[in-house]
Formats: sequence, C-alpha cells, structure tokens
Amino acid sequence: MAERSSFVVVANRLPVDEVTTPDGERQWRTSPGGLVTALHPVLTEHGGTWIGWAGGTGEAPDPFELEGIRIHPVPLSADELERYYEGQSNATIWPLYHDAVETPVYKRRWRETYRLVNQRFAEAAAKVADDGATVWVQDYQLQLVPAMLRELRPDLKIGFFLHIPFPPIELFMQMPFRAEVLRGLLGSDLVGFQQRLAAQNFVRLARHLLGLRYEGQSIQVDGRKVKAGAFPISIDTKEMERLAADPKVQARAKEIRAELGDPKTIILGVDRLDYTKGIELRLKAFRELLADGKLKVGDAVMVQVATPSRERVEHYQTLRVKVEREVGRINGEFGRVGVPAVHYLHQSYSKQELAAMYVAADVMMVTPLRDGMNLVAKEYVACRADTGGALVLSEFAGAATELRQSFLCNPHDPDGVKDALLRAVAAEPAELKRRMRVMQRHLRTHDVAQWAHTFLDALEDAAEGRDPAPQST
Ligand code: ADP
Ligand code: F6P
Repeated sequence: MAERSSFVVVANRLPVDEVTTPDGERQWRTSPGGLVTALHPVLTEHGGTWIGWAGGTGEAPDPFELEGIRIHPVPLSADELERYYEGQSNATIWPLYHDAVETPVYKRRWRETYRLVNQRFAEAAAKVADDGATVWVQDYQLQLVPAMLRELRPDLKIGFFLHIPFPPIELFMQMPFRAEVLRGLLGSDLVGFQQRLAAQNFVRLARHLLGLRYEGQSIQVDGRKVKAGAFPISIDTKEMERLAADPKVQARAKEIRAELGDPKTIILGVDRLDYTKGIELRLKAFRELLADGKLKVGDAVMVQVATPSRERVEHYQTLRVKVEREVGRINGEFGRVGVPAVHYLHQSYSKQELAAMYVAADVMMVTPLRDGMNLVAKEYVACRADTGGALVLSEFAGAATELRQSFLCNPHDPDGVKDALLRAVAAEPAELKRRMRVMQRHLRTHDVAQWAHTFLDALEDAAEGRDPAPQST
C-alpha cells in the first residue's frame, strides 16, 4: 500500500532525473527548467509527495525520500515518451500556447497517448492522496488530470497551475481535442495562470466553447464553481541573494571576468535551447551592433548559455543548427585569435556557477518571443546585490509585467532590441542602481513562497466555495 500524503504535487517532471553516465552508472541529476526551480523550495517547506516522470523509459524506480519530499516516479515507455512528451506536449501544445511562433503539429496517435499517460498520473495521485488532501497539478503536459482525478476522488481539493502562456481563443480553437482539454482543466477547483490576461482568455473560452456561464473569474460547471486567477510565479529570492553573496561565488565571478579577458561589458544569455526564447534574434542584434561599429570585440563579449532541451523534437534540432550557425558566423566575421565575440555553452551548470555568471554579467539579455514568466530574469535581478547590472527584457515575457525598471524591448523589432541593448550598455551606474533597487524590493516580497501560499490559500477558498482571496499581479 502506497504511503499517503495530505499535500501532493503532480508534475510531468520530478525534481531529479535518473540518468545513465557513459560508463553505465545510474545517477540522479537536478532536472532542467523553471517548474522545478519554483516547486522544489515549496515542497521542501510543505513536505508531501511529488509525482512525476523520472526522465528515463521503462520501469519506474521505486518511491523514495529526497530532502523531506516523498518522490513517486511514474513510468513512461519509449513510445509514450515520443508521443505524449515529445509529440503532444512539445510539438503540439507548447508551440500553440506560445503564440504559434513555430507551427504546431497535430497527430491523432499523440493525443491518444497523452490521454493514456494523463490517466496514469491521475491514478497515481488518487492512490497517494489522503482523504480530503490537496492535489496541485502542474502545467500543459497534464491538462486532463484534474477531471480524471475528480472522477476517481471527488473528496480532493484540486488545483491546477499553468506555467506557460494560455493562448487567445482563436489559437486555442485550432487544437483538435480542444473541448476535452478544457473539460480536463475544469475538473479543478482553481485554475491558476501567470497573467491576468491568460485567466481572462480561459473564462471566455469556457463560455465560447462549452457555453458555460461565468461571473468575474468564477465559472459554473455541473453545479460546481471553478475559479480562475493570475498567480505570477517567482524564485526563492533570499536563497538566490545568499548564493550570490557567497565569497566563493563572488571569487568565481571575478575569475569568469578574467577568463573572458576583462572586457568592459559582458552580455549574458541563459536559456533552454528553445525557439520561444529569442536566442537567434539576440545574436543577430549583437552581430549588427558589431557590424555598425557600435560595439567592439574585446570591449564587449557575449556569453550564451543554451541548456540542452527536448533534443529529439524536430523544431529543437533545427533551432540548434540555426543558433550554432549564427554563433559561427559572428565569431568568423568579428572574432580574433584567442578573442571570440561570442562564447556559446551548450551545457548544464550548477546553481553556484550560474549565480557567478549572473554576478559577472553587466547586461543580461532575456528576449523571448513569448514566455509564461522567465525565472532567469528574476534570478539575475536577485543576484545583483551590488545593485549594478542591466536587464534587457522582452515585453512578451510574463516577468515584464513586474520588472518594469528593466530595459524593455519588443523582440519582433530588431532595431528595438539593438536600441535597448545599447541603452543598457551605456547607462550610468546611478541609473542602473535605481532600477535594480526597485526590482529587488519587488522580488523580496513577491517570492516563490508568497506565490505558493497565495495559490494554496485561494485553492482552499475555492474548494470551500468561499470568495477568492485577493490576488497579486
Ligand atoms: P523555462 O522554464 O522555460 O526553462 P525559466 O527561465 O522560467 O525557463 O527557468 C529556467 C530555470 O532553469 C532557471 O531556474 C535557470 O536558472 C535554470 N537553468 C537554465 N539554464 C541552466 C543551465 N545551463 N544549467 C542549470 N540550470 C539552468
Ligand atoms: O516551464 C515550462 C516547462 O516546460 C516546465 O514544465 C518544464 O519543467 C521546463 O519547462 C523544462 O522543460 P522539460 O521538462 O520539457 O525539459
């Protein structure tokens, strides 16, 4: 009999992936992405069970404890990995929900497997959740789970949080099994989004597609009320500040600057290698500024960390080729022996090393074409306790709603991106300090613990049929 918990998180990924090293040894490694960054501290504080996929295929490892969290792995076969994760989740829903910046691919067999895998996650949650427990389902890979779980366990409080954008009605309507996805989400007591606009899209969609009545952010479904709301996710700000202040991290930051030849300006990008992140357009902006003579190699250097991601999905393979070609072109045209213009790093790093890069960077470029939030932007701000450094931020990242003192730009406008980068490079230290201070103050009160508490309090109210708690934006 599985151990039961009063708090259960259900997410596609566990906080750790089981990987096999080249010499055949099995190891646990921290999983990539913003979801894990955000939820790990929340579960460490609450305790409870985290249900998710362990990263490999075949039989799932047995449940185990990790830093006070009960880890409950769910198995995926190689076929399921291809159809549910790479296919339906990351070649259909991911591009569709990100403004279709790449063309979504629709396949019937992917949908069938998505359904089957969602049922497996729902059954795992039904098994480990205590009577009346709170179950918090995460993200676009598991949108059918809330309704499936309610069917199995009507006694539970079910919350859902979407980490990525929720599309406007006309885009959502493209999806072949759109009504099923919407009904899946409506199995929740509370559906949370990063942005107020996304919550509005959702309630309007419920009326448009299923003819459901709503009042404010509350939808009437089968005699129940389902609440929708905006809950902008955040980081463990204190932990990030502590990390950045660590003398070892500070020393490493100095070393990084020295290794880069002590240039005047280090421009940094840190992203999963994903076509939503705007890595290509950022490189192009840098190339054009070098060509225009507005930036000079030696004075300015770009470091682009491009974390390996979803490497078997075609869109991602194409992107990698394009990004690496652009890096080669810039270095070929503008680099000198021993002085490349761009340092391109297709690797994962420890939190300490990333913090040292943030501390070392004069300008951080976060230029997604569309992003639910973007935690990298928030991490950079939290790391700059010296109140130096400039953040260039796309208006199309959720973080732009909060980080208004960044150098905002429209990533679809190359001249706008170049202009924002140049303004960031040239800004006076006093101005940078003023901007950073305001953003840091915001992140200290709007951290990941506040996000989780606000969501979970609102879920409690929604499940008890009370009016929602005031929500932050
Ligand atoms: P997404 O969820 O789309 O990946 P976010 O910016 O919200 O984007 O979150 C990315 C998270 O992954 C951040 O916490 C960041 O520090 C971490 N991360 C990104 N690149 C790396 C890397 N190369 N090594 C380790 N962690 C990384
Ligand atoms: O934040 C969006 C997200 O897809 C998360 O669900 C996920 O953990 C992260 O990005 C990384 O993606 P993946 O799990 O596909 O590697």
